[in-house]
Amino acid sequence: MNIGLIGSGGREHAICKKISESKLTKKIVCFPGNAGTSKLATNINIDFLNFKLLLKFIKRLKIDLVIVGPEEPLVKGLVDFLEKNKIKAFGPKKFASKLEGSKAFMKNLCKKNNIPTANYKVCKSIKQIHEFLKKNKFPIVVKADGLAAGKGVTICKKKSEVMSVSNEIFKGKFKSSKTIVLEEYLKGIEASYFLVVDKKSFKFFGTAQDHKRVKEGDKGLNTGGMGAYSPARIINKKVEKKILKKIVLPTLNYLKKRKKFYRGFLYVGLMIKNKEPYLIEYNVRMGDPECQAILPKLKTDIVKIFNSVVNDKLKNQKILWKNKKSMTIVLCSKGYPKNYKKNILIKNLENLNISNNDEIFHAGTKLIDKKLFSVGGRVLNFTSTGNNFKKIRERIIKLIKKLNWEFGFFRKDIGWKVIEKNENN
Ligand code: AMP
Ligand code: GLY
Repeated sequence: MNIGLIGSGGREHAICKKISESKLTKKIVCFPGNAGTSKLATNINIDFLNFKLLLKFIKRLKIDLVIVGPEEPLVKGLVDFLEKNKIKAFGPKKFASKLEGSKAFMKNLCKKNNIPTANYKVCKSIKQIHEFLKKNKFPIVVKADGLAAGKGVTICKKKSEVMSVSNEIFKGKFKSSKTIVLEEYLKGIEASYFLVVDKKSFKFFGTAQDHKRVKEGDKGLNTGGMGAYSPARIINKKVEKKILKKIVLPTLNYLKKRKKFYRGFLYVGLMIKNKEPYLIEYNVRMGDPECQAILPKLKTDIVKIFNSVVNDKLKNQKILWKNKKSMTIVLCSKGYPKNYKKNILIKNLENLNISNNDEIFHAGTKLIDKKLFSVGGRVLNFTSTGNNFKKIRERIIKLIKKLNWEFGFFRKDIGWKVIEKNENN
């Protein structure tokens, strides 16, 4: 099969690697991919949000199946567009993608179906903000309704903060929407649970814990994710049952009733409080860097999984995993998530002595005259698999230190809550 892959991050390099290992794969084309995927696939540097141009390439290159990595093309209806043009695509359609694309949609769906989530109010005016503040205690979480590239959530400790963040959103800080969702702050342990879903069934696709803050000890600004470990510490069989029964099934059934079937990866972002799961967010794709931590443990051919989903035959598809722990640490450009330099040479990567248990997934990288350059904030993902998180982390840090890229930085404490604090459940 010829497979097209949309996206350019570490998540897409990890997916590309798995696709390349499949016997079913003949050719992979990445739109646009990165330096890492260029070793496994043909990279085509076009704007994938230009659906018509993308379709031209897909047809010209005789692509049989398209895998969509990031959320934006899903929320904007890429899968609907490709299907109308008779191209098979893995990922949810526009309506189901509202689970991520509109927080108001997701919260209203929760309310209608008694799905446990933080108490909330959808606000379109300052008056509505005041109403919610009168009835709820601080901290209050202010969320932009639409996609906001990970920058749409602010936890506010006082009224003035809520007002200033809300005013910015009402004025159009995020192009996707001027609506706000205010939420009660949930205290508990965060964890992410992943599924792969088709019209008729769904299967477990791993758990992980991301680290969104830029500084050690979970301090500083929010980022796309500085590192993740898998499995997540809090999700045991009992909690998993509750996640499925109270959150996932009512959501998928709601969509089914409307004949708006979900197909693709589903990322369930949770807060676990007193062994009870609460839904914080849905994402309609794999997480980045969670994907880079989870995929190296997948034993089953990923192309078989993709095929079974687009043909609604997931029910009969076994998905097998290595019984291992894994971790990904993201090497970022100094200054990220604020300003950072681009086009900096990365020497030495080929000289790292990596073993079968290690992977280096590229994110913001580019090859120019066969030399590797950084072009993004998150540059490289170092993943290792093993039996002990502390040892895995030591191994990764050793590799990053050996690379010795002086323009980069990384968090040395990924997994600190399981390693240093021994919070296993
Ligand atoms: P989101 O973009 O919805 O994932 O939110 C980003 C982060 O904000 C989450 O990963 C949580 O750490 C935090 N967060 C979001 N909503 C809440 C909430 N209601 N209570 C506590 N923390 C929250
Ligand atoms: N790592 C968080 C996300 O992918 O949304």
